[in-house]
Amino acid sequence: MSNILNLFKKKEATLLFPTYGRYPVAIQKGQDYFLYDFSGKKYYDFLSGIAVCILGYNHPEITKVICAQSKKLIHISNLFYQEEQLELATKLQKFAPNFKIFFCNSGAEANEGAIKLVRKYFHSFKKQDRFEIITFSNSFHGRTLATLSATGQDKIKKGFSPLVPGFTILPFNDPEALKKHASNQTAAIMLEVIQGEGGIIPVKPQFVSALKEVCTQNDILLVIDEIQTGMGRTGKFWAHEHFDLKPDIITLAKGLGNGFPIGAVLAKPNIADALGPGSHGTTFGGNALACKVATTVLEIIEKNNLIFQAQEKGANLKQHLQLLQKKFPDQIKEIRGKGLMLGIELKQNAKQIWESLLKNGFILNLTQENVLRLLPPLIIETEAILAFIANLEDILSKQS
Ligand SMILES: Cc1ncc(COP(=O)(O)O)c(C=O)c1O
Repeated sequence: MSNILNLFKKKEATLLFPTYGRYPVAIQKGQDYFLYDFSGKKYYDFLSGIAVCILGYNHPEITKVICAQSKKLIHISNLFYQEEQLELATKLQKFAPNFKIFFCNSGAEANEGAIKLVRKYFHSFKKQDRFEIITFSNSFHGRTLATLSATGQDKIKKGFSPLVPGFTILPFNDPEALKKHASNQTAAIMLEVIQGEGGIIPVKPQFVSALKEVCTQNDILLVIDEIQTGMGRTGKFWAHEHFDLKPDIITLAKGLGNGFPIGAVLAKPNIADALGPGSHGTTFGGNALACKVATTVLEIIEKNNLIFQAQEKGANLKQHLQLLQKKFPDQIKEIRGKGLMLGIELKQNAKQIWESLLKNGFILNLTQENVLRLLPPLIIETEAILAFIANLEDILSKQS
């Protein structure tokens, strides 16, 4: 391990909570889809800071807007009307016509807001004592107490009991279990249509039909967590568009600010209006700087046709991965995902392959022990895709 890494490790041990299991790399700077460590080693970035930096690093227009807006107004609080919030909401509404928007600071906070909205809607508007929210195994919705309670992964809940009541976790992609359990006592169903942390697992068509059926029959709200899948990552602005689902509430964060913290809850107006003055809020959420950055991110996505690019580049990457699967059937079990949100499921623990890739200068994420998760910036180029494929092929051939 390099000296700088050892030094950081030592300092962290006395300064920071030991909350994170770090990769053995300290990044000093980024440029486009490259990252550089303190020794100057260059890495191809296939992670985007976990689906956040969709425009890559040091994007000139983002830097420019941060500088300009910071000279004008960074924060004023939600006690005031704010032009920047209206500008961003107008832009976002192009991708979610007729939805109203609440701005916050992170993904967990967006989901927390959605959960509160569901409860308040049934309490205040429907005058019904309905609060059950169905979520699914392997899901990930955040680390606050309510979003952790909604999350379908026991390993991250250990030690935090008692959790928030009102969540029922059903097996993912099991239409029968859903039909059996959902009732007119269920307030909402909340899901990721492609599970991210869970290992890039998309919803299956029969499950989609069951979701539509139970929601319509029982007046259940459909909440789609697009925190990882949104902003064009999957080749459509929203991943739920691939599955023809019509959510009542959508949550968004990660890519919205390209690294500047911002999240959002979007809801149909008849639901959104349940959170009246005084019922919910945030000091920082939707501040002028965050909104201005997010507006610029959306402008760049549109101007550069990045959603189409995610579709095209993702298809190219997937095709190459599928060829590798054919070549190494004993090692690669499945290639999953859409656009630039792809998972390579290995037949065995993938830690060694992940380590070799990192050593060779490719940053990506390992999830569920055997899934290599690829979430590159949407600005990634074919050159990077080919370099990654050649490297993975080399590693796999040495292992077989
Ligand atoms: C689908 C999904 N929901 C919610 C979250 C939580 O977002 P945050 O870490 O910004 O609180 C994440 C983060 O990985 C996520 O992937």
